[in-house]
Amino acid sequence: MRVPLVAGNWKMNTTVNEAVALVYKMRLGLDEIDKVEKVVCPPFISLAAVKEVIKDSSIRLGAQNMYFESSGAYTGEISPIMLAELCQFVIIGHSERRQYFGETGEIVNRKVRAALKVGLKPILCIGERLDDYEAGRTEKVVTEQLESSLAGIGDISGLVIAYEPVWAIGTGKATTGEQANEIIGLIRRNMAKLYDKEATQSLRILYGGSVTAVNSGEFIKQPEIDGALVGGASLDADQFLSIVRQTAKIKG
Ligand code: 13P
Repeated sequence: MRVPLVAGNWKMNTTVNEAVALVYKMRLGLDEIDKVEKVVCPPFISLAAVKEVIKDSSIRLGAQNMYFESSGAYTGEISPIMLAELCQFVIIGHSERRQYFGETGEIVNRKVRAALKVGLKPILCIGERLDDYEAGRTEKVVTEQLESSLAGIGDISGLVIAYEPVWAIGTGKATTGEQANEIIGLIRRNMAKLYDKEATQSLRILYGGSVTAVNSGEFIKQPEIDGALVGGASLDADQFLSIVRQTAKIKG
């Protein structure tokens, strides 16, 4: 019922030339895989060039962040309207943005609203830090993040959620498939309290955090997990392709 989705978050990696070379390497292979939505999220400055490379393919484009205002005197920022010309998706509230750039629940909420307003599909990231995990506060933190990020938002069509435990990002310490499935199940049950059945059932929830070609199957095979948000491994064309292929095989 839900089309699986695998997105590559390239983070602050690749120059424009490198981004073009990377997506060239992936393009044909990715395009051959159907029944999975495939998204690449290069840095802002490469969006236009990557868009050109994938224009006749089934690969979708996403940004890694945006500001919530439409235009104006916000030096250095990129608006939802600007992105809407280039991409279909935008990652919002990534833990690195919360940690290094002071993004609060309120800011994340304004960004999610602004993205939905222009028809961009937000990939909303939530997840607990190591101290919360160790103190057994995962459910509480994830529930609070969900509520603050979505406060006042009535229509969630297009929304994608990514559960990324902060302690599993870039550390090589992925959580287990069962644990991720459990938290993602909880997220879906929480969403069901806030939104109608149809919206909740069609909502895609991804796992992210040290996903590789080796462990991706363990996550993808879980019933609640609809795909992956991949960081480091998405910078390697062969690994990313392998993750998408495995997703198609398991969920397709
Ligand atoms: P890694 O896959 O490098 O752990 O990063 C995950 C992530 O933050 C994706 O958004």
